[in-house]
Amino acid sequence: MSDLRVIAIDGPAGAGKSTVARALAARLGLEYLDTGAMYRAVTFAALRRGVLDDDAAVAALARDVTLEVGEHGVLVDGVDATVEIRSAEVTRQVSRVAANSAVRTELVARQREWAKVRGGGVIEGRDIASVVFPDAELKLYLTASPRVRAERRVAEAGGDVDEVEAQIAARDSYDSSRADSPLVQADGSRVVDTTGMSIDEVLGAIEGLLQEQE
Ligand code: DC
Repeated sequence: MSDLRVIAIDGPAGAGKSTVARALAARLGLEYLDTGAMYRAVTFAALRRGVLDDDAAVAALARDVTLEVGEHGVLVDGVDATVEIRSAEVTRQVSRVAANSAVRTELVARQREWAKVRGGGVIEGRDIASVVFPDAELKLYLTASPRVRAERRVAEAGGDVDEVEAQIAARDSYDSSRADSPLVQADGSRVVDTTGMSIDEVLGAIEGLLQEQE
């Protein structure tokens, strides 16, 4: 176990990771990091600079860009992009950027540095337990049925449930089958299926798992 207090939360889109991670961080007095927002921010910057099709240029951009991902939003080179990083266009393109190994190397380094300066945190993404923090104090894999995940996304952002379910399935399949750091249930991860569970029930289950670790 490292001297950082890291709670790692992975899982597919719409499993409730962000809501749960934010609430868990507040309960534990830790900060929260949404690593998906970092991949989205790089995608947003690449679209804005018109370099999305050039993998080397996207990697260079990932190294140069100033990213501030916090409780109150996301700044990309000092400009508020909190809303834009959730756009349909960014959502469509982000899996491609997340499959770029040089981008991953850079963002993983930034994620480790983020935790180091804070003594840890609740960190959510796809590869947090498998790659970024394999020694985390607690490793969680949050999931839910595809239908429920789509319904949650529609409740948050609108849209048609069938269409959103198809988009989520396509992104999950891409994220799970890429060569570098695919979405997996990491060794030692505890699976929490949030289908039919309220946020409070999920938090209760996770607190039970944390107590088991002590
Ligand atoms: O959680 P999200 O939907 O905002 O994530 C956006 C994309 O980024 C998603 O398609 C997978 C990718 N991602 C990743 O590859 N690794 C992470 N640690 C977090 C997100």
